Amino acid sequence: MKLQIFNSYELMSDAAADLIIEIVTNKPDAVLCFATGNTPVRTYQLLIEKAVSQHTDFTKCFCIGLDEWLGVAEDISGSCHYILQNQIFRPLGITKNQVHLFNGTAEDPENECEKMNKIIESKAGIDCMVVGIGINGHIGLNEPGVDVSRKAHIATLHETTILSGQNYFKEPTIINKGITLGMAQIMQARTLLLLASGKNKAAILQQATRGSISNDVPASFIQQHENALILVDKEAAATLS
Ligand code: GLP
Repeated sequence: MKLQIFNSYELMSDAAADLIIEIVTNKPDAVLCFATGNTPVRTYQLLIEKAVSQHTDFTKCFCIGLDEWLGVAEDISGSCHYILQNQIFRPLGITKNQVHLFNGTAEDPENECEKMNKIIESKAGIDCMVVGIGINGHIGLNEPGVDVSRKAHIATLHETTILSGQNYFKEPTIINKGITLGMAQIMQARTLLLLASGKNKAAILQQATRGSISNDVPASFIQQHENALILVDKEAAATLS
């Protein structure tokens, strides 16, 4: 694990976008996985600008979903599906057959997990994952206490995730479960890019990167990842020892 501190959110986002461009330039058929949330929004905007100016070819890459709110349909603007489609896939010209996301309204969510696990295996793993960190230390929806050996699974959401999750929806929305890639898959990503911004992430970032490795803070396992890059702005790094 390597950690880099940037003077601003803009600089952090710029570095993250550059890295994604580099990975796709070196491996045009890369398997990519993008988190939703507020943190990577600017990264994705810059990624789109850089992809245009540098003529980066995304036509051969494949994109995997990180997580989804269970029971939330893809046409709801707070769904991960909707956000990824609008913030990344459509602007980059990534077509539906280049993407596999969790269907939050599938009749059989366990089967959604199985399908996702098989697709990741058939693609021989994920080349680059862009993830955020929840204020409770989650990655994706791997909540505190998660079994870190698990692959895709249904997660019962932690109270703080339910509360902060409301921020992504226009109207109050019932969310109490999610569907997520597991820590086993996150840890196997060939490049793991974790972004953290703002002072509300400072305490959990300290625990995740400097504290003991424990499933109480799922993101702490990133310390064991050989090719993890943690990009943070100076506000998020404020309490790093
Ligand atoms: C959400 C998402 C995560 C995201 C995290 C942080 O619950 N499921 O994938 O990375 O929380 O979000 P934010 O960047 O808005 O703080």
